[in-house]
Amino acid sequence: MSPSLLPDAARVKHPIGVFDSGVGGLSILKALRAELPHEDFVYVADSGFAPYGERDEGFVVDRSRVITRHLLKQQQLAIKALVIACNTATAAAIHLLRQEHPDLPTIGVEPALKPAIALSHTRRIGVMATRGTLNSQKFKTLLAGLADQAQFICQPCDGLADAIERHDTEKISALCARYTQGIGRFGTQLGEVDTLVLGCTHYPFASQDLQALVGPRVRLLDNGEPVARQTRRMLPSLSSHAAPGQCQLLSTGDPATLQTAARRWLGLDVPCRVL
Ligand code: DGL
Repeated sequence: MSPSLLPDAARVKHPIGVFDSGVGGLSILKALRAELPHEDFVYVADSGFAPYGERDEGFVVDRSRVITRHLLKQQQLAIKALVIACNTATAAAIHLLRQEHPDLPTIGVEPALKPAIALSHTRRIGVMATRGTLNSQKFKTLLAGLADQAQFICQPCDGLADAIERHDTEKISALCARYTQGIGRFGTQLGEVDTLVLGCTHYPFASQDLQALVGPRVRLLDNGEPVARQTRRMLPSLSSHAAPGQCQLLSTGDPATLQTAARRWLGLDVPCRVL
């Protein structure tokens, strides 16, 4: 019998693995579920070891390896693709993970500098990201290749991912104010920053604060949708199940944090297990 004639239950459904240092990668999972509604996902928040952004690269590489190995062993149902839903971990580890698991399609995220150039009229672009991302060789190479096309003002945002992780709304507002001030004057006139790149997957969850601070005409750019489209292109096979895909949530920290964030931001109400 050809696989397409098998009843749903008889077909093995390998999930797509997604991980981040914590809840930030839910911004990517949201876009993935919209783009690939019939796929199953297993999401790991490494909250017990977050934040990654102010740690050294070796630490982030080790954590990325541990999580990837775990996802490949999941209940004998190995993942069929891996999405590193974290700019910091992508910058530190994607090349190593691809070398170590050459058969696993691995998709990463990086700050959306190229799309920002296409959108910006003033050619002054703010980039908010973790210190780890901004200091990485991968980011420096990306920036150097585009430096003649726009002026990028890069702002390390220590503590912001952590505040979002803890849903500390006061601290989120205070840090967003401090870091947007650090970037300079926002607006659409010459000399003003008209595009703000959110180079950490946690930051879209602070976009209301950020938009209020920079004004309604400044574009905020994250990369959930492009990453979801790229994942579709790189998948070895699409799920042939007609039913909506399922999500599993795993956390190395407090499972309630991830469960609550998934309910709040994605309307996803599923239990979370400890990894
Ligand atoms: N969400 C992550 C990123 O995109 C990392 C945040 C952190 O753990 O510092 O870089």
